[in-house]
Amino acid sequence: MTDLEPLEPLDPFEPLFNPFAPGYTDNPYPSYSRLRAEEPVHEHPFGFWVLSRHDDVSALLRSGNSVDYRNADEGSAARLQADAMIEAAGPATGDTIDAYGMSMLDRDPPDHTRLRGLVAKVFTPRSVAALEPFITELVDASLDRLADAGTTDLIEAVAFPIPFAVISRMLGIPETDHARIRELSGLLVRTLEPIGDPDLLQEINRARLEMQDVVRELIGFKRANPGEDLLTALIAAEEDGDRLSDEELVAQVVLLYVAGHETTVNLIGNGTLALLRAPAELAKLRQSPELAANAVEEMLRYDSPVQQSRRIILDSYEVRGRAIPKGAFVIAGLASANRDEAYWGPDAGEFRVERSGARNHVAFGGGPHHCLGAALARLEARVAVERMAARFPGLELAGEPVWNGRINLRGLSELPVKVG
Ligand code: HEM
Repeated sequence: MTDLEPLEPLDPFEPLFNPFAPGYTDNPYPSYSRLRAEEPVHEHPFGFWVLSRHDDVSALLRSGNSVDYRNADEGSAARLQADAMIEAAGPATGDTIDAYGMSMLDRDPPDHTRLRGLVAKVFTPRSVAALEPFITELVDASLDRLADAGTTDLIEAVAFPIPFAVISRMLGIPETDHARIRELSGLLVRTLEPIGDPDLLQEINRARLEMQDVVRELIGFKRANPGEDLLTALIAAEEDGDRLSDEELVAQVVLLYVAGHETTVNLIGNGTLALLRAPAELAKLRQSPELAANAVEEMLRYDSPVQQSRRIILDSYEVRGRAIPKGAFVIAGLASANRDEAYWGPDAGEFRVERSGARNHVAFGGGPHHCLGAALARLEARVAVERMAARFPGLELAGEPVWNGRINLRGLSELPVKVG
């Protein structure tokens, strides 16, 4: 299947990469195609670079270039955004260390290695696999709600509640103020988007501080009520010595909380939409449920829940004969790489649940920052897709899906479906 969304012909006089163009966030794929074909190593007039081909994106992520924005060129947009965040977050917390950029996602080795090692020790394949019965119960309860409603929004009924409940359970925290946490987390992930508006920057910073307070409170609760969970284990790591500071503990928990659901919602939502738009693929899945795991890889490839990673070049870096200078900010186009015809072949734009090698996508990034939650996301999506396909043979779209308007964590805010 090809993209069935309306494709406006691209204006040849438009800049090659303009994520603010009308319609871009609904369907960025024509823009990616043009980048790959015309300038796969693109220097944007604003001074940053965009890579869009699979091999280049994958090599950059494995290259050991930086994720710490403080390594970006003085005066660059990336650096200005980071400085504004740091300034607003630092003094307000009353700490000498800035609370911005303390999570592993924003750190380079040796801090990255230490932080990731501590979290990975408790976020193990075994602890993820053990969640399958709980996830199955959750999925079935969500599908019951879908069945009762007949016609409803799949994001509200299925895609959001599952990952949110799972990460809360893993961390061992009560599913407290859902609506507020969802709102705060929705604001926090905006830091992964370009932010031009100073008011929005302030709003995000307020959300960051409030989220930190929520997490501090949860840590207090956990200290008093330890259990067999991730948060108890991380607190133990902090108490064991000085390997994890208090600020760092808060930052890793916020990261897990937010990364644990914002992205997986997009996977279940975007992936279900792809299936509904390709009824023959849905039928294959129903006939052969063992295809579900590969179908999830294809969903990750075909419409990636995280569209970009970002890196700062630490030393001059050459791609396809072009030198990207030290300090430059580079966007690694994950979703574009996942549609690169030169890598996937001429059917890269089609959704095929049996695609061989689908797992070679870069939807979870690559290199040292490769997604720590990949196994959990895969498990949640696999159970959801398997049981949904089996239970609702006539599942179909009941209206126009609504995109969330995000450039990076691009997903659906509404997916109206009818169980048929
Ligand atoms: C990192 C995607 C689900 C936790 C990443 C990165 C990507 C990504 C692309 C790398 C960012 C970079 O290199 O700049 C996704 C997608 C998901 C998903 C597509 C779902 C479909 C999850 C879940 C969790 C999680 C469920 C945890 C519960 C993390 C963490 C990192 C990360 C902790 C940082 C790793 C590091 O910096 O070493 N994710 N993620 N993710 N993800 Fe995920």
